[in-house]
Amino acid sequence: MARTPLICGNWKMNLGPHAARDLARAIVHGLPEVPFGVAMAVCPSTPCLQAVLDEIRVFDRLEGGAQDCHAALSGAHTGDTSVEALRELGCAYVIVGHSERRADHAESDATVKAKAATAQAAGLTPIVCVGETLAQREAGEAEAVVAAQVKGSLPDGVAGDGVEGHGVVVAYEPVWAIGTGKVASPADVDAMHRAIRATLAGMMADADKVRLLYGGSVKPENAAELLALDDVDGALVGGASLKADSFLAIAKAAKTTG
Ligand code: PGA
Repeated sequence: MARTPLICGNWKMNLGPHAARDLARAIVHGLPEVPFGVAMAVCPSTPCLQAVLDEIRVFDRLEGGAQDCHAALSGAHTGDTSVEALRELGCAYVIVGHSERRADHAESDATVKAKAATAQAAGLTPIVCVGETLAQREAGEAEAVVAAQVKGSLPDGVAGDGVEGHGVVVAYEPVWAIGTGKVASPADVDAMHRAIRATLAGMMADADKVRLLYGGSVKPENAAELLALDDVDGALVGGASLKADSFLAIAKAAKTTG
């Protein structure tokens, strides 16, 4: 099953609107070097979304996304962001359940599932993050922990990204590999992505259409090896997405379909 790889930048709580717009502009400038058949997206922090989306709006090869949303459509939720507002801004994606949000804001699988379902219903594609801690991996629990997160965090009746318009993307991000420079070995990533695919197959008919991204210290030096794996359909990139050159180099390393 040929899945279009997605290289998605997660800018986290970095950059202000001006610097974010400049980074978006630099990425757009380099887009002609990235082969067609590689989808790209950037997820700036909420205050930077407008500036970035205005910058990239006319370039359909680069889409925008948010880093979180609320599970409710609107209402008394001070400081939160609604999917309707994100859609009106022009977001295509929203990251939900990133391990930093699970840790900083005590987000449970049920919360993540509710957010993903609301995003999907609004026409956004949720990028649902899962991943084990170092202690869980060392205890031999990694695959069981991630399987439980996948089962608990994906909306019911989910379809793959692009299926009937509104799908879901799953990002496997081992917590111990995020921002640490420690990247999971290709063998471990391969095994986990196969396991996630098998879990998805137990949940839906079209599991082979769901894009599975790897995230955690992806950089130009290790991208080609990870992105070559059969069940790795792209990357969620933090630190290395804050420089246009390294983000574009990772996109150029993606295997293309067809
Ligand atoms: P990193 O972050 O690439 O800086 O490790 C990845 C992520 O948290 O999405």
